[in-house]
Amino acid sequence: MTGLRCLVLLSGRGSNLATMIAARDSGQLPLDICAVISNRSTAPGLDIARQADIPAILVDPIRYPERQDYDRQLSRLIQEWQPELIVLAGFMRILGAELVNSHHGRMINLHPSLLPKYTGLDTYNRALTAGDSHYGASIHFVTPALDAGALISQAVLAIEPGDTAEIMAARLQPVEHQLLVASLELFSQHTVELIDDMLHIDGKPYAKPLPLAADGRLIPAGEFNQRS
Ligand code: GRF
Repeated sequence: MTGLRCLVLLSGRGSNLATMIAARDSGQLPLDICAVISNRSTAPGLDIARQADIPAILVDPIRYPERQDYDRQLSRLIQEWQPELIVLAGFMRILGAELVNSHHGRMINLHPSLLPKYTGLDTYNRALTAGDSHYGASIHFVTPALDAGALISQAVLAIEPGDTAEIMAARLQPVEHQLLVASLELFSQHTVELIDDMLHIDGKPYAKPLPLAADGRLIPAGEFNQRS
């Protein structure tokens, strides 16, 4: 199979994985999803992978109770599958610095907030409590500090009167999917790197994430917020 070789780590539902598979199958994205790894045996995302004939692997924390051993097993699998990009799509486990650093610039995470706001959990309620006017999703490079690596792309939505966390999550989900596909497209069409803690695209530094446009694409090169 040709295309950007991705390994997906997930813990739950797997709607982002399903979106990647659909984008691959429709020909929208040249993707090779080489394997899916989960830390939870019951993750529906593992079934989505199996149904698509993608190797679905459980790395069970019960078997590897020490973080070091867990991460070592993950590293071994990553080494085996040789992905160009590791996509954390709802992977609810913190990875150790050694593992993260050994995949510098090759591991990305999807987070449901406008980072740097609201790292960690419960992002929608925290945005509501703060009285924010907007919320959204971010894709960033994974670095040892939680949800703090350089931002790659972001989708912004308005918070509407009467919104609850559930309503916000449901409204964001399809937009997050678009953001993921557009970001993977960016990786497949450009050289996307993490240099000196900053996003670089085709060798040029970008101080801010690329915004998702209304048509579901990232604002194209030359128009995005480039640092001169
Ligand atoms: C997404 O909302 C993502 O932002 C967060 O976890 C969720 C994963 O959803 N990190 P799914 O399992 O891909 O449906």
